[in-house]
Amino acid sequence: MSKFISWIDRRLPVSNFVRNHLSQYYAPKNFNFFYFFGALAIFVFILQIVTGIFLTINYKPDADQAFASVEYIMRDVEWGWLIRYMHSTGASFFFIIIYLHMFRAMLYGSYKNPRELLWIFGMLIFVLLMAEAFMGYLLPWGQMSYWGAQVIISLFGAIPFIGESLALWIRGDYVISDATLNRFFAFHVIALPLLLFALIYLHLAALHTTGSNNPDGIEIKDNKDDSGKPLDGIPFHPYYTVKDIFGLSVFLVIFTFVVFFLPEFGGYFLEKDNFVPADPLKTPEHIVPVWYFTPFYAILRAIPDKFGGVLAMGLAIFVLFLLPWIDRCKVKSFRYRSSTYKLLLASFVISFIGLGVIGMNPATPVLTWVGRFFTLVYFGFFVALYFLSPSEQTSKVPKRVVMHE
Ligand code: HEM
Repeated sequence: MSKFISWIDRRLPVSNFVRNHLSQYYAPKNFNFFYFFGALAIFVFILQIVTGIFLTINYKPDADQAFASVEYIMRDVEWGWLIRYMHSTGASFFFIIIYLHMFRAMLYGSYKNPRELLWIFGMLIFVLLMAEAFMGYLLPWGQMSYWGAQVIISLFGAIPFIGESLALWIRGDYVISDATLNRFFAFHVIALPLLLFALIYLHLAALHTTGSNNPDGIEIKDNKDDSGKPLDGIPFHPYYTVKDIFGLSVFLVIFTFVVFFLPEFGGYFLEKDNFVPADPLKTPEHIVPVWYFTPFYAILRAIPDKFGGVLAMGLAIFVLFLLPWIDRCKVKSFRYRSSTYKLLLASFVISFIGLGVIGMNPATPVLTWVGRFFTLVYFGFFVALYFLSPSEQTSKVPKRVVMHE
């Protein structure tokens, strides 16, 4: 075996890779629950690719056949129902994981110096992931696929001067049609997954350049022993490989439960209207995007002007890219930050969830006003952070990481 490995090593640096990125890669010893989600995101990405390949084998990207081909997968293809439910449930779980992963970065200030690029790559992944999910949702060619895409693409029409031409260019037609389905299929199955793959690689390369942050927000590289190993670090393998396998096992219990017993998740993961074939002549009563888009959709609806709404929605995403420069406090982890910051962060989370709930419901006058209030709180968080963070009253950050049993 060792002869074989050294034969390989002379031709490909496998052992070097394992040493640099696993057995001799030191990660902080105080990772908690929130640090499971990066590994889980990698797992779900692979799951989506594998189940996606099997779906593509039987799916037909044709406006006349798409809906029926999905029904065929569900009823006639051996285990087709399982593959499809794994893929549709996987999409929602991907967003649950990513939102928790991003929230962790906000809790512990992981986007701050020196991890700004890591955060930017993460944000690019987030935007692409939304595009990937949006295009995937058109493929079953149900009522909500059709009308959801119709509403979202027509938003581009609100952009002055170029809007209408842009919407036409995206659709490839004056309405959502077979041409739209074909191009969305191409983007969903190959173009965006390839880009996502490249970005995940860059994300991890940046992570292994700076090293991980941790719940205390202390740089473990600042305290090393005589041999140059971080005093508060432990080798990623075997410690975190084993820990991540545990996290994955718990995740799989929850995931399989949903796949087998609640795949539609009460209409949140697979909307009821999407079990009806797309009908360009019949608009559904309530056109609602899937749950993971609803916070941004609520911001869009909060602004009375259509173009203003599109701008606000874009800004709500764009402002997150700037977070490393908006938050100017030197202390990373919320554990050692001021009560004002904790309050601001809590109000941000409440506004985001609140917007998500509002975006799922039909726009009544009361809900629209609550949506406007939460939109103000959402943007207010960034404005307040920019002005308050430089002079924040923080508590003393310990020199070494603290273990909480
Ligand atoms: C396909 C999507 C993604 C994958 C596969 C992925 C993967 C990972 C992995 C494996 C880690 C190290 C383990 C961990 O800290 O949990 C990590 C860390 C990190 N990720 Fe992601 N990530 C993804 C999306 C994102 C997004 C959308 C953001 C933010 C916008 C983000 C921001 C970060 C940050 C700031 C860290 C460092 C955290 C720390 O050290 O405290 N990631 N990512």
